Amino acid sequence: MTPVEVHDFLRQIGSHWTGQGTAMELGSWLGASAVPLLEGLAAAGYDRQFWAFDKWITNEEQVKKASLQGQELKNKQDILPLFIRNTASAYSAVTAVRGAIPETLKRYSGDPIEICIFDAPKRNPVFIKSMQALEPYFIPGVTILGLLDYYFYKRNKGEREALFQVQEEFIQAHPESFTKIMEWPGLCSCAFFKYKNPVKWKQK
Ligand SMILES: C[S@@+](CC[C@H](N)C(=O)[O-])C[C@H]1O[C@@H](n2cnc3c(N)ncnc32)[C@H](O)[C@@H]1O
Repeated sequence: MTPVEVHDFLRQIGSHWTGQGTAMELGSWLGASAVPLLEGLAAAGYDRQFWAFDKWITNEEQVKKASLQGQELKNKQDILPLFIRNTASAYSAVTAVRGAIPETLKRYSGDPIEICIFDAPKRNPVFIKSMQALEPYFIPGVTILGLLDYYFYKRNKGEREALFQVQEEFIQAHPESFTKIMEWPGLCSCAFFKYKNPVKWKQK
């Protein structure tokens, strides 16, 4: 569960929307992080579609996690209606693209992207393919990239650790392209970056 400090930051970046691009989230679940971002965007006069990508079908692990947070769901439940209901009062012009990322990113309109939140792709090849699909639409000096699982590997010590380190490795390999603007050491896995220049792609 993303802490309130991150939700406040999402609301803040939404409220500073400059009008140059769309906002999107990869991995929206029931909308806990989308709602504060949408509240900020609405306050700023956001007038585009908000793009949300997810499978929106529960699995057993998610049902258990949700239960711990007091949300009773069934296995293989279609939760897209819950996401739509939860976000509707904040902002209703939401394009919800259901299915497996990165394949579903082909359905993105191709408009410039101002705010891009990753809360699903934390391992490769999904992470790098998602970056390759979306980075061409990032706006130098404008786009904010939120990686909500950036430090996730720190909670996965051992042989699984390296699998989850791909986000940090990618950002560190491209200092010309990204600068960190916010993180919450010791509190959560999230980090936010400003996009500076196009990525010089080496990874395929
Ligand atoms: C950590 S949850 C997102 C939480 C949400 N942002 C919030 O704050 O409540 C991750 C979500 O990503 C989705 N997901 C993970 N991998 C995916 C993939 N390859 N394609 C589509 N959705 C995926 C899961 O279904 C899940 O809803």
